Formats: sequence, structure tokens, C-alpha cells
Amino acid sequence: MPEKTEARGQWKSNLGFILAASGSAIGLGNIVFFSANAYKFGGGAFYLPYFIALFVIGIPVMILEFGLGHHTGQSYPLALRKTVGRGGEFLGWFAIINAAFISMYYITILSWVLGMLIGSFGTLWQDSIPVPAFGMAEGALPNPYAYFFDMLSSWWVLGLVVLVWLANIFIVRRGAQTIEACVKVFVPLMWLFMLILLVRGLTLENGVQGMLLLFTPNFEVMKNLDVWQGAFSQIFFTLSLGFGIMAAYASYLPKRSDLTNNALMTSFLNCGFEYIAGVAIFTILFATVLIPKASTLSMMFFIIPSGIKEMPGGDPMVLVFGVLFFVLLLAAGLSSSISLVEAFSSALIDKFRANRKVILLVSFVVGTIGSLCFALPQVINESLSDDGTLGLTLLDLVDHWAFSHGLIVVGLIECILLGWVYGVHRIRRTINEHSKFNLPASFDWLVKLVIPLLILFVLVFSIVLQIKDPAGMYGASYSENYSVDWGWVRWLPQIAFFWWIGSAIGGAALLTFLRAKARGAAVENGGKR
Ligand code: PHE
Repeated sequence: MPEKTEARGQWKSNLGFILAASGSAIGLGNIVFFSANAYKFGGGAFYLPYFIALFVIGIPVMILEFGLGHHTGQSYPLALRKTVGRGGEFLGWFAIINAAFISMYYITILSWVLGMLIGSFGTLWQDSIPVPAFGMAEGALPNPYAYFFDMLSSWWVLGLVVLVWLANIFIVRRGAQTIEACVKVFVPLMWLFMLILLVRGLTLENGVQGMLLLFTPNFEVMKNLDVWQGAFSQIFFTLSLGFGIMAAYASYLPKRSDLTNNALMTSFLNCGFEYIAGVAIFTILFATVLIPKASTLSMMFFIIPSGIKEMPGGDPMVLVFGVLFFVLLLAAGLSSSISLVEAFSSALIDKFRANRKVILLVSFVVGTIGSLCFALPQVINESLSDDGTLGLTLLDLVDHWAFSHGLIVVGLIECILLGWVYGVHRIRRTINEHSKFNLPASFDWLVKLVIPLLILFVLVFSIVLQIKDPAGMYGASYSENYSVDWGWVRWLPQIAFFWWIGSAIGGAALLTFLRAKARGAAVENGGKR
């Protein structure tokens, strides 16, 4: 196995690594996307596809990504180059650019979370507030909606975007070392806050019924292939797979590390958190007579805060739980977004042997501009008609491509390349060297055949659906809700698609090509030994 240079930095302890990897995995997805999906896909019936996705795809791919990063001691694109050559590096950059896109909108959402946190100290809980924004009459909208839209269309929200980017850059400034220090605070904090919410939810009158709703299966729904696609993309997103994050994090592990055990711990911590969050949210919503039937953003910004607003105990309790909820979201979100920033920064640093400060500065500038694309339109045009919610629609569209499709495509090709071209048994052997639990040879077939076939299946299914019903492609929920007058905006789905695919493929090709030009001794050092 290649030696890793100390200069790359290492986790101080295995615990630090587990905290960082599970901190990346546990994010906004666990708190809101999961509940929304579970409800949408028939409560209890979602668990079966979800569990199958976890055991058959999630855990094996995580072991594979840990193995890849650790085996090569490199971040994702170079790790893939070392194992499967140029094509691998191209895939690596594709994943990294995808991660960059996701970090852009993820951080915009985090800035809104921060804005809501500020509001949760007061304004957010007033019945209504004057809403100059979006051309609405004063007080026409109840809170928390009113506050959210008012914030969305205020200039100061742009400051929050810059601030959250700065926080991310600050946390990753020295790689593993500073990330570890941060997750040691954030990860225990978010567990604590989640458990407090759980206890509160379960002790609310009628709360337990919410839990029953969550666990009551509706097996009819499982015949629906949508549910399976939902479960598959959810497992990739929630475990932070297909971005090159887990490979980057594992490359900072000392040589003798039990990767299988680490992957199991990370996955179980993540899914445990997701379940607890699901129960907490369903109990609170049920007790306050709300339904988690909403898009994930609405869940986070409207439905759950509305539930908190209705909780017994009066203003002080609303204040406490409101602040707690948004701090929880922020801690969970930041420990995830830093992993995205680290994934693409470390890839660039490794590739160009560049100074971390320079790369972080570039990431900050490009990332902030990207995040502003989602936040700025609402500020410029504070109206709900015309293109007033353009940023939200764009966010939906990028999410649709980069998240729902990009991740699983990367997973698919990664398994094929490592399985067939490199030979997954080679990675398995190094993983087994230091693992208590030995991966059996059948692991190879899982990676070579079962996972690719499953992913291919949902992918083809989803593409067929989109061809049949192109409206599904448009991520048009916002236009339906707020009657956006499409105008030139009707080209937005195409623009978003070409923006994404063009930058991902073009950028990946360019970065792979640059490598060939800049190939020199320094790069070879990082190469196979
Ligand atoms: N796993 C995170 C979540 O569930 C999302 C995420 C994906 C974060 C990839 C970083 C990278 O919210």
C-alpha cells in the first residue's frame, strides 16, 4: 500500500474521524428531507426500500470510498487516477464539481437557516409582521411565512451568505486538524439538541400518535418505483456518498485503521440520527395538527417552525425550542458543508500541489458567487410574480440534476471502474488487513454487479418518467405555488441543465487535461509506488 505523507495531515484520533464522517453524513437531509420523504412515500413503507438501500448500496459504497481514499492516500480524483487511470480522474472531477454545485445551494440554504435563527429570538414568532416584500399587503401572510419571505427579499440575507461561506473556509483552514476541532463541538451538540427535541415531542399530548403514523406501513406505495428511486438517492445524499468526501476524509486516516468498522459506525450513527429526527418531527407535528406533507424547504422553514409555534408552554418555550431547532440545523448543516468544501479544496490542492490558502480563497470567491445566484434574484425582484422566486426555482433545478441524478451516476461508474477495471479485490484486501471483520469475496460481486444494476435500474426508470412527463423535470413546484410568470424564465430548466452538465463535464475534462500538461515529478510523487 502506498505510504501517506505526514504533510497531508491526519486525524488526531479515530474518534475524530468518526465525528467528522458522521458530521458530514448527518445534515439537513437527516432532519427534514428524511421526514418529508418518509411521509411522501407512505410512512412505514419507506423503511423497507430505505433499509435495503442502506445495506445493499450505502454501506458497501461507503466502505469502498473509505478504502479508495485510504488505499491511495489521495483525494478523490487522484485516487481514481491512481487506481483506474485518466477516465477515473475524469469521473473524480465530475463528482467534485457536482459537490461544488451542491455546496453552493446547500450554503445558501444554511444562510437562510441562520436568518431564521436570528428571527427566532423574536420576530419569527409574532403572529404576522408587515411584509413589504413580494408585493404583498401588510400582514397578509402569517408567520413564519411572512418572516421567511421578508428575509428572502432583504439585502442583509446576502451578507449571511458571505458569512456562512467565511465560516466554512475558516473551519477547513488547516484541513483535518481544524475540522476535527470543530466537529468535536458540533456533533455532540446536535445529538444533544436532537434528543431534547425527541423527548419534547414524545411527551406532547398526542405526540405518540405521530410516531405511529411514521411507522404505519402502506405497502401499496412500495410497488411504486418512485419510492425506490427516492430511497436510493436519499441513501447517497444522506451518507455523503458520490462526492469524493468520504475518500478525502479517509485519506487522512493513519495506516492501521479499521475501515469496515468505521463505515459501519458512520452509517449507523447517521441512520440512527435520521430515525430519531423522524420521530421527533412527526410527534411534534402530529401534536400540533400539522402534516409533514411539503417540500423539504417548506418543512424546514414553515411547517416545523409552525409546529414549534403551537407548542404548549407559551412564549418562553417557543423561544427555547425555536432557537434550539435552528441551532441544531446550523450545526448539522455546517458539519456537512465543510466536508463538501474540504472535498473540492483538497482535490485541487493535491492536484496542483497548491497552497491551501490560495485554493481556499478561490473556493470562497467562486463558491460565494455561486451561492448568491440562488439568493440574489429574490432580493432584486421582491415580488412573488414574474421571476421573483427565480433563485428558489434555480435551486430546485440544480438540486434535481446534481443531487437526484449526479450522485447516483457517480456511484454507478465508480463501482464499475473499481469493480472491473481496477479489481475491487485489491481494495478489499487492503481494507481487510486492519479490519476485525473481514469482508467476504461476495463483496466484490456486490460492487461489480448488484449495485451497478440496481442503480442503472432506477436511473433508467427516472429518465423514462421524465421523458413521459417533462414537467417533472422542471422542478416546477415553486412556479405552481406562486404562479411564476415564466416569460424568458421558461428556458430556466434548460439553462440549469446545461449550466450543470456543461460545467461538470467541461470542467472535469479541463481539470483532467491540465494534469497531463502539468505532469511532473511532484505529481508523480503522489502517484503509485
Ligand atoms: N449528508 C448531508 C445531509 O444529509 C448532505 C451532504 C451531502 C452534505 C454531501 C455534504 C455532502 O444533509
